[in-house]
Amino acid sequence: MSEWIACISCGTRYELTEIRYVCDCSGPLSIERDVSVIPRTLFDDRRPGRTPVDQSGVWRFRESVLDIDSSLIITHPEGGTRLYERDGMLFKHEGENPTGSFKDRGMTVAVTQAKRLGVRAVACASTGNTSASLAAYAAQAGLPAIVFLPSGKISAGKLAQTLAYGARCLQVHGDFDASMRLVLEASSKLGIYLVNSINPFRIEGQKTIIWELLQDLEWRPPDWIVFPAGNLGNTSAFGKALREAVQWGWISRLPRLAAIQAEGANPFYRSFREDFAARHRVAAETVASAIRIGDPVSHEKAVASIRETNGVVEQVTDAELMAAKRDIDRMGIGCEPASATTLAGVRKLRTAGVIGKQDRVVCILTGHLLKDPDSTMASVPERQIVEIDATLADVERALR
Ligand code: F0G
Repeated sequence: MSEWIACISCGTRYELTEIRYVCDCSGPLSIERDVSVIPRTLFDDRRPGRTPVDQSGVWRFRESVLDIDSSLIITHPEGGTRLYERDGMLFKHEGENPTGSFKDRGMTVAVTQAKRLGVRAVACASTGNTSASLAAYAAQAGLPAIVFLPSGKISAGKLAQTLAYGARCLQVHGDFDASMRLVLEASSKLGIYLVNSINPFRIEGQKTIIWELLQDLEWRPPDWIVFPAGNLGNTSAFGKALREAVQWGWISRLPRLAAIQAEGANPFYRSFREDFAARHRVAAETVASAIRIGDPVSHEKAVASIRETNGVVEQVTDAELMAAKRDIDRMGIGCEPASATTLAGVRKLRTAGVIGKQDRVVCILTGHLLKDPDSTMASVPERQIVEIDATLADVERALR
C-alpha cells in the first residue's frame, strides 16, 4: 500500500515525508492512499484486542489512517468513546478522550508523524483543547511543544492542562485568528512542525470519530450527524470519513452533516447562506471560547463535506447554546459550551422542519464538562448552592 499527500485543488502529489501544510498553488492538502477495498470486519475483529493500537479508537482503523509500523505509534490510547441515548437522540461523548476532547484523535496521528519525521519541536495555535492535547502527546513522545494562545481568552482549565503537560505557552495579544496566522508564519520560518488541523495528518485521525460511531451502530448510518464548527477541521474530517466509508463499502447510504456555529463566530454559516459563493471572515465573540474563531483555516475542505453530504450549517445564540448545555449537563452527561451547540442546533433545525421528527440524530459532544467550569458556575441557580453553619438547624433551613 502506498500513501501520499495530495492537493485538493490541483491534484499535485507530494511525498509523505515532505513537510508542508498547503500546496504550491496554495490549495489545501489531504492524505490519500491506493487501497480499493478494506473489509470493515477487520475493525470489528480488533475490538476485543488487548494491544494499545487495537484498543485505540483511532489505530483500530490504522490501514485507513496511516501506514506505519505499530512500534512507532504514539498512542495513549485514545477514542473508544461512548454513545449515550437520551431524549430519542444519541450523544457520542468525545470528551471521554484522554485529555478531555476529540483533539486526541488527530493528535496521536500528527505527533506520530512528527516523530517519524524527526522534527525538533511541535507547535499549534489553540483555543485550549488542541494545546492540551498536543502538550500531552508531545510529552509522551519526548518532543518540545510550543503553543500560541489568544491571551486571556482560553478557559483556566485548558490553560492549566496545557502547562501541566509541559508545553511552552506564548500568550498572543490578539484573538485566535491572530495566533493562527502567527504560528503559520513561525512554523515556516523557524522550522517547527505545525499540528493544527491544516496539517492533513490531524484529519486522518479525526475521521475515526465517524467510523467508530458507525461501527457502534453496526454500520447502520443515522440520518444526521450534528457537531460544532470552529476552525472546520472536524467538518473536513467528517466528510472525508463518510466519502471513504462509502468508497470502501462500509456503508451504502450517507448521513447528512449539520455543522453548528455560534452566532458571534459564524463565518461558515454566512457562507453557507450564500451557497458558499464567498468566504467570510468575522471578528469572533461568543461564550463558547473553543469555537471563538472568525477565519477558519479549513474552509474549502469543509465546503466539500457539506456539499457532498447534502449537509447544512446552522447558527445558535449564546443563550440557546447555554440552555442546551444545561440540559446536556442535567442528563448526567455534561459538556463544555461549544459542544452544546449540537443540541441547540438540533432544536432549531427540528423547528424549521429540516430535521424530521422520525430522523435518527447523533450529536458529537466535543469536549468535557470540566474543561470550562467558569461557564458552568456562571449559570448555576442561586438556590442550588448555599453556605451554612455546621448545625442541623442550618441544614433544615437550607432544605426547606
Ligand atoms: N468543540 C471543541 C470543544 C473544540 O475545542 C473545538 C476546536 C471545536 C469544537 C471546533 O472544531 O475547529 O474542528 O471546527 N478547538 C480548537 C482548539 C480550535 O484550538 O482547541 P473545529
